Amino acid sequence: MARMPLIAGNWKMYKTEEQSEDYIQALLPRVSSVETVDVAICVPFTDLRAMIDSARGSRVEVYAQNMHHEVEGAYTGEISPPMLSELDARGVVLGHSERRTLFGETDKALALKVPAALEAGLVPILCVGETEAERDNDDTDRKLRQQIKDDLAGVAPERLAEVVIAYEPIWAIGTGRVATAEQAQEAIAFIRALVGDRDKQAAEQLRILYGGSVKPENAAELLALPDVDGALVGGASLEAESFAAIIAAAESAPR
Ligand code: 13P
Repeated sequence: MARMPLIAGNWKMYKTEEQSEDYIQALLPRVSSVETVDVAICVPFTDLRAMIDSARGSRVEVYAQNMHHEVEGAYTGEISPPMLSELDARGVVLGHSERRTLFGETDKALALKVPAALEAGLVPILCVGETEAERDNDDTDRKLRQQIKDDLAGVAPERLAEVVIAYEPIWAIGTGRVATAEQAQEAIAFIRALVGDRDKQAAEQLRILYGGSVKPENAAELLALPDVDGALVGGASLEAESFAAIIAAAESAPR
């Protein structure tokens, strides 16, 4: 069965609840006829309830951007998996490079978070990717192998297909420097092969997204690549119009 493309907008720390309401009212009519692409917005915790209510019954699914692995406990400032599933969040972004580099998120933590998300009925979007120095030193494959191995270690083979992976080369995030089609395809095919070492069928089914300076202008080329099953979009997801243009590019991409 063909993999359904997923276009996910990662808002990062943008949009108050009021701003999020304006946005969703602008986005919904633009995606009302979408049928062959899954659409998600990954929003700050404070926007979750409003966005889930406003998007209910539409094509737009709502994700969180982080979570703790424990169900509850003395973890001031943290949010647990059941707190997200109770709200009807569809899933959660895990291991974004900004969380890894700015907030010390480790592969060890992710090895707990990814299965905890699945356990709570949340779709994890696990982000992986190399730094510029790692790419320059031909260290990309080693980095991806290590992240995929460590971060998915706690996921049983029969649940691997439910995970979404986002390949986000760190040098392409927020820089306007998009990976070439060749770089994106090569890295994502490599990730799929790594998953295939654990479970062949899961590797065929699981969706792998590209992220890093995806814009309406470059989306069509990236989304036409055989192993690229969608995009995780930062800056260009903050305006409903440009996000909808990327979704439209996914709808018309040859599959
Ligand atoms: P930009 O699309 O702004 O480069 O951000 C990518 C990203 O980090 C999505 O998670």
